[in-house]
Amino acid sequence: MIFKAELVKGMAKTAHPYGCRKEVFNQIEYCKNAKQFNGAKKVLIIGASSGFGLATRISLAFGGTKADTIGVSFETGITNRRTGSAGWYNNIFFKEFAEKEGLIATNFIGDAFSDEIKEIVINYIKKEFGKIDLFVYSVASPRRKDPKTGKTYNSTIKATDETFYGPTIDIEKDELVMTKINSATQEEIEATQKVMGGEDWNEWCRLLLENDCIEKKAMTIAYSYIGSQRTYKIYRGGTIGTAKCHLENTALKINEEWKKNIDGKAFISVNKALVTKASAYIPTFSLYAAVLYKVMKENGVHENCIMQIQRMFSEKIYSGTTLKFDDSGRLRMDDLELREDIQNQVDDLWRKITPENFKILSDYEGYKREFMKLNGFEIDGVNYEENIDIETLKTLEQ
Ligand code: NAI
Repeated sequence: MIFKAELVKGMAKTAHPYGCRKEVFNQIEYCKNAKQFNGAKKVLIIGASSGFGLATRISLAFGGTKADTIGVSFETGITNRRTGSAGWYNNIFFKEFAEKEGLIATNFIGDAFSDEIKEIVINYIKKEFGKIDLFVYSVASPRRKDPKTGKTYNSTIKATDETFYGPTIDIEKDELVMTKINSATQEEIEATQKVMGGEDWNEWCRLLLENDCIEKKAMTIAYSYIGSQRTYKIYRGGTIGTAKCHLENTALKINEEWKKNIDGKAFISVNKALVTKASAYIPTFSLYAAVLYKVMKENGVHENCIMQIQRMFSEKIYSGTTLKFDDSGRLRMDDLELREDIQNQVDDLWRKITPENFKILSDYEGYKREFMKLNGFEIDGVNYEENIDIETLKTLEQ
């Protein structure tokens, strides 16, 4: 079968297996050649198959202390209707590269919100893997079934106090369109918090501690986003922002628990706006990211996922100096994005954007290419005409 890119409503329906392999390889090469760090050696990452979670895993395994990793993710392999998600292949090929270097790389596919996967992972840590010294929670999910009540909650991306109007890029048609989204109901705000807030992270942390799975002085990190005025209504001031505030408050609670019990630390890293499977979905965010990419590239401060995470570990968390947090206890990896001169230039450009000129004025080309790369397409050195044998792909193990 020849794998072709197929986009529907801002989502990729297909992923190129060997494109994904090349992209994982490229990220590994970046980390090997970047500034190294002496950090965690035994790591659990929830949401490890793409975006920030995958970058975290690669950086820890190849850009520092050569960590053994457990990656939990929710991905699908080859079925009658689908040819495997990008994250499915990222897991497989990360494992291949890590094992070649003698590292443990264990993948668990399942619902991180469920009791079952927590039990499986904790048993594995206790019986085989050994205690962890870093736990990273990097889940972006549209829904969560609460195992205690059986109720399923759906997250929504909406403003909380008014109808939202904003420009959004239609990546399938390469068009800039206006979107109108009704204000969220109280139920939607609460449901989004259930999915993307801190409840599940807290539950993992509690169970890991109770089951003696954590080394003394270990750390746990979850990722958040703040962003600029341009995305405020739909992001920070919206349903997802409310959930992120809950996640950030949860960090303070977990920090107290971990400090008391293992002299450990819990904190949030506020990251930069980047194209990922999850963020491509957020109205207005795509245009903001395309404009931001243009400005940050012109100023020589652009970072993609892997660059940002490698910098986070090598220059902040494991730099050997005291970690600096903001007044709310958060690590700010969005420092470059929110620099005043960068935001002023974003604003200047934003005012000039129209549906006719957005491809020229913003870095839409770079934005879209990065989106395609997430799914293994448009990557140099990959033979996209190759007829790939599905039966061979089916034999690849997680
Ligand atoms: P992504 O879509 O690239 O990755 C999400 C990960 O979560 C995947 O590994 C997926 O398999 C996993 N996942 C989803 N549902 C799951 C479930 N039920 N059980 C187990 N795993 C599940 O998303 P991205 O953007 O890397 O997001 C990760 C975190 O980073 C999120 O908390 C997000 O809010 C945050 N963040 C993202 C920014 C961006 O611009 N993309 C900026 C700042 C923070």
